[in-house]
Amino acid sequence: MDTLIKRAAEDIAAAKLVTALTGAGISTESGIPPFRGKGGLWERFDPMEVAHIDAFMQDPTRVWEILLKEMKTIVEAARPNDSHTGLTKLENLGKLSTIITQNVDGLHQVAGSTDVIEFHGNFASHRCLDCQKQYASHEVQITQIPPRCDCNGILRPNAVFFGELIPPEALRRSQKIATDCDLMLVLGTSAEVQPAAMMPVIAKDTGATIIEINPQSTALTGTVSDYLIKGKAGEVMNRIIAELEQIL
Ligand code: OAD
Repeated sequence: MDTLIKRAAEDIAAAKLVTALTGAGISTESGIPPFRGKGGLWERFDPMEVAHIDAFMQDPTRVWEILLKEMKTIVEAARPNDSHTGLTKLENLGKLSTIITQNVDGLHQVAGSTDVIEFHGNFASHRCLDCQKQYASHEVQITQIPPRCDCNGILRPNAVFFGELIPPEALRRSQKIATDCDLMLVLGTSAEVQPAAMMPVIAKDTGATIIEINPQSTALTGTVSDYLIKGKAGEVMNRIIAELEQIL
C-alpha cells in the first residue's frame, strides 16, 4: 500500500483540478450503515419496496416507519470522520475543488468542505408533499409517523428516491466537473448506481486519472480506475495527506 499512497500523493500534487466522488462507505466510520454488502441496508430491505418513490407515495407511513425514521435518527447523530476531514484538508491545501457526494448525511459540509454537490439530495431538510413548505430536519418531529406539515400534509426528506430524477443542477455541475478535472478520487462507493457511477467514466474519457479508495474492488476497478488503494477511506486519507504535506 505504501507505494500506492506515495503515487496518489504525487498524482494529486501534479494535478491542476482535483475532484472527489464519495459514497456511503466513507460514512460507515461515522456509524452510518452502507447500502450494499455486509451490514448494508439493502441486505435487510428491498430498495424497490422502501426506497422507490412509488412505494413512498403508495404508503408513506410504511416507508417512514421502516426506513426513514431510522435513517433520520442515525444521520442526525453522526459526526464527520477522518475521510470527511481528510477531504477538507485536501481542499485547504488547494488540492480539491469540488466533492460530488451520493451521501445524504451532510457530513462533508459539517467537516468544512465548501463545494459539495449533493447528487442524491439530503436529509438536512424536508418538504411538505402538499404545500411544499420546507423544514430543517431538526424541526421535523418523528413522534408522529408520518411527520406532518402545519397544513397537515405529509413530509418527505429532500433526498432522492429511486425512480426520481437527479436534481438537474447537481447533474449538470457534476458532469461539468467530471469533464474538467484531471484527477478524480473515488471513495467509498460501489459504483453500482447510475448516473452517479458515470462521473468517473466521464472523467476518465476526458483524460483524468481515477484513484479509487475502498477496501473492496468495484465495477470501476481495473477498467475505469487507474488504481485502487485497498483500505478504509479515513486511514488512507490520513496517509495521503501526510505524504502530500511533505511534497507541497
Ligand atoms: P454502497 O453501499 O453501494 O457501497 C459502499 C462502498 O463502500 C462499497 O464498495 C464498500 O466496499 C465501501 N466501503 C465500506 N467501508 C468503507 C470504508 N471504511 N472506506 C471506504 N470504502 C468503504 O454505497 P453507494 O455506492 O454510496 O442511493 O451507493 C450508491 C447509492 O445506492 C446511494 O446513494 C443510495 C443507494 O441506494 C439512493 O438512495 C438513491
